[in-house]
Amino acid sequence: MLRLKCESNSGWASAALADLDTLLIDHVHCEKKAASTALSLINRYPEKTLLVDEMITHAQEELEHFALVLGYLKERGVALRRDSADPYVNQLLEHAHRDEPRRLLDALIVAALIEARSCERFQLLVDALPPGELRDLFDGLMPSEARHFTMFLTLAREYFPATEVEQRLEEYTLIEADIVRALPDEARMHG
Ligand SMILES: [Fe+2]
Ligand SMILES: [Fe+2]
Repeated sequence: MLRLKCESNSGWASAALADLDTLLIDHVHCEKKAASTALSLINRYPEKTLLVDEMITHAQEELEHFALVLGYLKERGVALRRDSADPYVNQLLEHAHRDEPRRLLDALIVAALIEARSCERFQLLVDALPPGELRDLFDGLMPSEARHFTMFLTLAREYFPATEVEQRLEEYTLIEADIVRALPDEARMHG
C-alpha cells in the first residue's frame, strides 16, 4: 500500500535503538520540517484551494507531532539541538523538476514517499522496541504517516492526470529505493 520498492537496510533498526536520544532529536526535526513544508506549499500555490485546505490540516497535525515528540525529549532530559542536513531528503529533492507544473507534482510525490518511509521505519521501531512509552509513541504515529502518504497522492491526482502521477511515482519509488539502500545505518529517522 505504501508503494516502497525496498525495505530499510537490516542494520537500521539496531543503529536507531543504539542511540534513541539522537533518533528522537532527528525525528522531532522531521515533524517540524513536515509542518514547514506544508506552509511553504500554501505559500507557493495559494490559488489551489484543496491543496491549501489539506496543508492547513497537515501543518497543524505535524506541529502537534512536533510538540508530542519534544515532550518525550524533555522527559528524557535531552535538550533540543540544531537540525543537521538530511541527506535522504536532499538526495530525493535533487531529482525534482524545477519547472512548473512538474515542480508541484514532484513536491507532492516526494512528500508522499517521505511519509511512506517514515511509516515503514516506525513499524520497524515498534517491532524492535520493548513494550513501553516509546513503542507506544511510534505505534501511535504510524497510522498518520500512512494517511499522509495517501493524502499527498490524492492531491497529486487532483491536479495531474492519473497516468502521469502513476508514471512519476513509479520513477520516484525506484530513485527512493536506491537512496535508501545507499544510506549508512544511523540513528536518524531517514538516514
Ligand atoms: Fe508526523
Ligand atoms: Fe506525516
